[in-house]
Amino acid sequence: MNPLIAPSILAADFANLQAEVEMINGSEADYIHVDIMDGVFVPNISLGLPVLEAIHRHARKPLDVHLMIVDPDKYLAPCQKAGASQLTVHIEACPHLHRTVQAIKELGCKTGVALNPHTPVKFLEDIIREVDVVLLMSVNPGFGGQKFIDNTYKKVNALTRLIVETGSHARIEIDGGVSMDNAGKLFSAGANILVAGHFVFSSKSPVETIKKLKNIV
Ligand code: DX5
Ligand code: ZN
Repeated sequence: MNPLIAPSILAADFANLQAEVEMINGSEADYIHVDIMDGVFVPNISLGLPVLEAIHRHARKPLDVHLMIVDPDKYLAPCQKAGASQLTVHIEACPHLHRTVQAIKELGCKTGVALNPHTPVKFLEDIIREVDVVLLMSVNPGFGGQKFIDNTYKKVNALTRLIVETGSHARIEIDGGVSMDNAGKLFSAGANILVAGHFVFSSKSPVETIKKLKNIV
C-alpha cells in the first residue's frame, strides 16, 4: 500500500489556520489530522467543533478526527456534521466500543480505534474486523512535539499479525513523535498512515517535509 501522511493541525499556527490548511491542500498529504482534546481524557484542551467546522470550510483533504475525549458517543454526529471523514475514538474511553464503532459507521464515516502506548494490541481481537483504522499512539496523548516511544515497532508487528490472522482490512496509523528518523522503519514494519505534527510544521518547508515523509520508502 502507498504510504499515507496526515499532518497534524495541532502543530499549526492557529492564528493563521486558513493559510495552514491551504498549505496542506497544496501538499502531497493524504489527510488533515485534527486532534480534539477535552482536558479530562488527556491533560490538555485543544480545539472543538467550531474550529473543526472552520477547517472543513477550507480543506480539500479528508479530515481525520482524533477524539481524545471521554464519552465520545455524544460528539460523533456533531463531528460528522462539522466535516469529519474519519472518526477515531480511544479504546480506553469506550466501555461499549462495538456500539460506538457501529454508530460511526452509521454516520458514513471511516471508523478508527486508538490505543494508548500501554494498551496491548490483543484488546482489539474481537473488534478488528469492524474497524477501518487502528491508531497506535507512539507518545502519551495530549501534546505535540514529544519523543517517539520505541515499543511502538513491537506493536506494529503484533497488529500486522492480528490483521492477517483475522482477515481484517484495517489500516495501521501511527501518531506521535514521527520524523524522518522513524518514518521509513514504521512504513517497512507495516504502518500505512503516519501522523506528523511538530516535524512538519516546525520545518523550513512543510510542503517539502510532507513530500519527503511520503516518499521515504
Ligand atoms: C498527540 C496528538 C498528535 C500530535 C502529534 O496527543 O494525538 O496527533 O499532534 O504531534 P507530533 O507529531 O508533534 O508528536
Ligand atoms: Zn492525534
